[in-house]
Amino acid sequence: MTFPPADAPGLFIAFEGGDGAGKSTQAALLAQALSDAGRTVLRTREPGGTPVGEKLRSLVLDHGQGEIDARCEALIFAAARAAHATQVIAPAVARGEVVITDRYIDSSIAYQGVGRGLGAAEVQQLNVWATAGLWPELTVLLDVSAEEGRCRRTATEAAEDRLESEPDHFHAAIRQAFLDRAAARPERYLVLPAGRPAGELAATVRTRVLQLLAAREAGAA
Ligand code: TYD
Repeated sequence: MTFPPADAPGLFIAFEGGDGAGKSTQAALLAQALSDAGRTVLRTREPGGTPVGEKLRSLVLDHGQGEIDARCEALIFAAARAAHATQVIAPAVARGEVVITDRYIDSSIAYQGVGRGLGAAEVQQLNVWATAGLWPELTVLLDVSAEEGRCRRTATEAAEDRLESEPDHFHAAIRQAFLDRAAARPERYLVLPAGRPAGELAATVRTRVLQLLAAREAGAA
């Protein structure tokens, strides 16, 4: 695996987790806290984040596009990610910004690699190629059970997309896939129970990210 060089001025953070985990809320709270602390923050999401990525997003998530088989689905997510990594994330990190993305490679490994059964290693390889090996320095995993995620999604009343409407056993496999990723590289992950109060989760995330930034700046001094 390759990461942004240790002396890259910015920081790249991903939020991951099952549907209904509250990633967007936590990404927004972290972005606000870092802006308040005087950092330039770029908040983005996948699939999407570029004009081509947003088109690919509706292609792969909206119902009624005709059959999309698993390999095609994995390639669409990877194509959107290639544009996102090259056009948006890498340049912002190089400019010294903190990039916060709602989902990244781990989502493809969990949903397409494990959920769709394409194989975690194969999907990882595809995505390393697509992103030229750009990985986040920290991934915040908001851990949610399939049942809790479904309840939280239902409560918001938004229509479910193609992936969200998969059954609970699909979401349970995805949850385990995320946890396995985090267990394999604990220094790169912050795993939090999504059911805790939003303010408490936000404080834990903020503390970890500020520590990371302080360590980075101490190293650069
Ligand atoms: P998300 O944007 O988190 O959903 P919402 O905007 O409705 O909260 O993610 C959209 C869906 O796409 C989600 O079910 C997970 C899925 N997904 C994949 O299957 N693979 C991927 O690589 C990514 C980025 C998302």
